[in-house]
Amino acid sequence: MGLQDNAISYGSMLVLSLLLLLPLLAKGCDMFTGQWVKDPSYPLYDPSTCPFIRREFGCKKNGRPDLDYPTFRWQPQGCKLAWFNGVDFLQKNKGKKIMFVGDSLSLNQWQSLTCMLHSSVPKSPYTMTTEGTISTFTFQEYGVEIKFDRNPYLVDIVSEKIGSVMKLDSINDGKNWLGMDTLIFNTALVEPWDYIQIGSNFTKDMDRMAAFEIALGTWGKWVDTVVDTSKTRVFFQGISPSHYNGSLWGEPAAHSCAGQTEPLWGTSYPGGLPPEVGVLKRALGKITKPVTLLDITMLSLLRKDGHPSIYGIGGRTGNDCSHWCLSGDVVMSSDLSTINQRHHKPHQGHTHAFFT
Ligand SMILES: *[C@@H]1O[C@H](CO)[C@@H](O)[C@H](O)[C@H]1NC(C)=O
Ligand SMILES: *[C@@H]1O[C@H](CO)[C@@H](O)[C@H](O)[C@H]1NC(C)=O
Repeated sequence: MGLQDNAISYGSMLVLSLLLLLPLLAKGCDMFTGQWVKDPSYPLYDPSTCPFIRREFGCKKNGRPDLDYPTFRWQPQGCKLAWFNGVDFLQKNKGKKIMFVGDSLSLNQWQSLTCMLHSSVPKSPYTMTTEGTISTFTFQEYGVEIKFDRNPYLVDIVSEKIGSVMKLDSINDGKNWLGMDTLIFNTALVEPWDYIQIGSNFTKDMDRMAAFEIALGTWGKWVDTVVDTSKTRVFFQGISPSHYNGSLWGEPAAHSCAGQTEPLWGTSYPGGLPPEVGVLKRALGKITKPVTLLDITMLSLLRKDGHPSIYGIGGRTGNDCSHWCLSGDVVMSSDLSTINQRHHKPHQGHTHAFFT
C-alpha cells in the first residue's frame, strides 16, 4: 500500500496552506507566486489509509503507476511553509464548524481535508453523516465538524417541468450555510443545466462567463446582506484549472493530462490564466464584507500531473483532468482559529492584497 493512496491531495494542501497562511500574507508573503520543487522527504508521513476515500480520488488504488506526483512541495517566493499539524489543527478548532460549499472540486477538497486530519488522529473516533445535500464529518473527541454542501452553482437549481432551471438571481439554499465558523465556497458553473432563469426570463443558454458573473454577484449580495462576518470567516476557493490541451503548457502533442508525471517547473503557465479568474476577481471586488480569495489557480495550473486522468472513477473509460488525485502531502502548522481570531480586525487590507 503506497502512501499516495492516503491523506491529502496537493490540492487540499493548497487550500489549507492558503487558509492557514493568511497571517503570513498579511506580513507580505505572496503565497500564490512560487514554484513546485521535488522534495525527497515527501510524502513525509504515512497517514494510515483513509477508510472513507472516494474511489474517484484514489488514483493509486485505481492503478496509477507513477509515484512522483505526491512528492512535490509548493515553494512560495519569499517564505517557507511550516508543516501541517493535524492534532494542533483539531485542538485549535475545537467546537468549530467548517463548511465547504460548491461543486465536485469542493467535494475533492473536503475529502482531502478530512482524510488528512483523520490520518493525523487515526484512532480518534469520527462519524460521517449525510442529510440531503450536506455531508458532515465529525471528529467527536474534538467536536470539530467539517461539512460539505454539494451545491454546484451556489445560486439555486430547481427541478421544474421543463427540466433543471438554474436561477441566477436566487440563493434559497444559503440558509444551510449559516452558523458556520468558516465557509469556503467554490463554483465555476461547469456542471450542466437545462435552463437559466434571471427574474422572469428563461433562456436555454447564455455566455457562461456572463452567467458566472451574475451568479457570483448574487452570491456576493448574499454575503453582504446575510453573513455575519464577525462570526464567520468567508473564503472563496479560486478557480481550479483543468488540463485538456497540451498547447497551453507547451506540449502540443498532449491532448490531455494523461501520462503527465511532473509539474511544470517554473513560476508561470504558458497558456495564462483561465478567463474565470478575471470574472471572479471582479465579482469579489464588489463585495463589501471581507471575503478572502484562495488564489490557487496559477499553482494548480502548474500541476498538469495532479489529475486522476484514466485512474479516476471510470478507470480507462474516463479521463479526468479536472479533479485532483488524493495523495500524501503536508501543510503548515498554523490553523484556522488563529485566522478566526482576526475577525475583529479589519480584513480589507489583506482582502485587497488578492485583487491585484
Ligand atoms: C428579459 O428579457 C427581455 C426581452 O428579451 C429583456 O428586455 C430584459 O432585459 C430581460 N430581463 C432580464 C432581467 O434579463
Ligand atoms: C488548444 O490551445 C491552443 C492554444 O490556445 C488553441 O489554438 C487550440 O485551439 C486549443 N485546442 C483545443 C482542442 O481546444
